[in-house]
Amino acid sequence: MGVARTKIVVGNWKMNPDYVDDAKRVIRETRKIASKFSKTKVVICPPFPFIPFALRSGKPNIVLVGAQDVHEEDRGAHTGSTSALMLKSVGVDYAIVGHSERRKAGEKDDLVAKKVKTALEAGLQTILCVGEDVHDDDGAYLEILKQQIKASLVGVPKKLVKKLLVAYEPVWAIGGKSPMEPEAVNEMVIFVRKVLADIFGQENVMATQILYGGAVNFRNAGDIVGKGGVDGLLIGRESVNPSGFAELLKVVEEVI
Ligand code: PGA
Repeated sequence: MGVARTKIVVGNWKMNPDYVDDAKRVIRETRKIASKFSKTKVVICPPFPFIPFALRSGKPNIVLVGAQDVHEEDRGAHTGSTSALMLKSVGVDYAIVGHSERRKAGEKDDLVAKKVKTALEAGLQTILCVGEDVHDDDGAYLEILKQQIKASLVGVPKKLVKKLLVAYEPVWAIGGKSPMEPEAVNEMVIFVRKVLADIFGQENVMATQILYGGAVNFRNAGDIVGKGGVDGLLIGRESVNPSGFAELLKVVEEVI
């Protein structure tokens, strides 16, 4: 696209690890390796109780911090929920919204769209997750994906798009053994960018970072970033495995 975009690797810890000492160890190891990089931005999204350990008040943080979800409202009587404003106020910079595991738990596109808007308005870099459940041979998944992206962005004003990132995560690859082939990832990145351009206008999405997620590990990350033409990766399992994540980050940093 001719626009330079820094690569970004986002670790989605999901509901892991069980204990705070393990969380601290993953944070420490991730910082150690990330401090050596200049071309790769590293973000970790721990579960809420571990977020304070990933933040560094008053000091520049080498590893930026994200939340795995936000509530769609700014405030109010919503027991058990966390608002985007709260997250921003403690120093969280990113939020994942609409992850397939939350969609599976009942989140529909319209709720996801509200969350995206709320997170963006609070000033969070917002990672919208999209992806088809099945990759059928007739290509019906393309239309499904297009509708999902459009519906997940209803009501999001153009002026907020600067802080939007999109993670394309084919649901069939998440938690599985192998990711999508890098060449196919490349086609999907182009497709997603085209859908975004239809919604917001080409000029507004030129710099939008498009990530791939689903079964990425240190062995396949290089090809996905290189041949797949993505701006970054959303990593599940490998992001809580300090040695694997360190290897993965090294590989990504080295891809031109
Ligand atoms: P995985 O998860 O890397 O464990 O497949 C990816 C994700 O859910 O974002």
